[in-house]
Amino acid sequence: MNSAFPLVPERASSLAGEVDALFLFILGVTGLFAVGIWIALLFFAIRYRRRSSDDRPAEIHGSLALELVWTIIPFLLMVVMFVWGAKVYFHMNRPPDDAMTVSVVGKRWMWKLQHPTGQREINELHVPVGRAVKLVITSEDTIHSFFVPAFRIKKDAVPGRYNTAWFRATKAGTYHLFCAEYCGTEHSRMIGRVVVMPPEDYQTWLAGGPAPESPVVAGEKLFTELNCLTCHRPDSAGRGPVLLGIFGRPVNLAAGDTVVADEAYVRESILSPAARVVAGYQPVMPTYQGQVSEEQLIALIAYIQSLQVPSGAPVDGGASR
Ligand code: CUA
Repeated sequence: MNSAFPLVPERASSLAGEVDALFLFILGVTGLFAVGIWIALLFFAIRYRRRSSDDRPAEIHGSLALELVWTIIPFLLMVVMFVWGAKVYFHMNRPPDDAMTVSVVGKRWMWKLQHPTGQREINELHVPVGRAVKLVITSEDTIHSFFVPAFRIKKDAVPGRYNTAWFRATKAGTYHLFCAEYCGTEHSRMIGRVVVMPPEDYQTWLAGGPAPESPVVAGEKLFTELNCLTCHRPDSAGRGPVLLGIFGRPVNLAAGDTVVADEAYVRESILSPAARVVAGYQPVMPTYQGQVSEEQLIALIAYIQSLQVPSGAPVDGGASR
């Protein structure tokens, strides 16, 4: 949309059309009903007004047919909105498997982003056109919200939690990025841009600048520096569970239940190790709260995620006992 006064933001992601179609449908239905109700209201007010002080209207009895009509039609319209809305919602919340993961950390008052290859950016995100991008969003301080109107995505950045959103940009260009949750004095300045580039240009952009350290490599270093290896030994002789191949799999807990070792569980295990101990182990791990930053946590998680068993090999996570 190129008019000087655009009614909707530009549509620049594969989700944008879907969101707009649903929005316009709901707007159309509610608009028609609103107009219909105004007209009926005016008509009835005039047609059935009290004409003199001794005017006595005739008594009215119910009409089953009329009541059924005004119950069933709105019900069906609501069902359409619900089913359609659920479809769009699930599509928005299920990133494709081939998506590249960009980590997003909100902080008063800036957006810190990191590419899977390690490049870091502040208040700017460069992405290739046509590629699915999964955002793993968190915050270091208060609640922010990552909002790119042209992509129709908005997701809260909540401290202590990883929220995900995804998009596939459909055309090259520069798009607004906002913080959409009031987060303090400079909330209104917590803005940035998303630069969508043709894939070749994105490769050139990635190659420019100093060679970065990927989160996996940074995480591996931290893993060594923090002496995690002393207990999490790869030969299942350590005091902690073997981490090889554990990511994304269900883990049996000492309390008897199971949990999937996802980003949130790994994060919790680093910051509050005693919260959900793996079955067969003692709660001996110290907390790393205050010792690792959000970015370091993301790197550690990326490293643990990278510890995959070569396909075909049996998994001995020490966790499935
Ligand atoms: Cu961050 Cu508003």
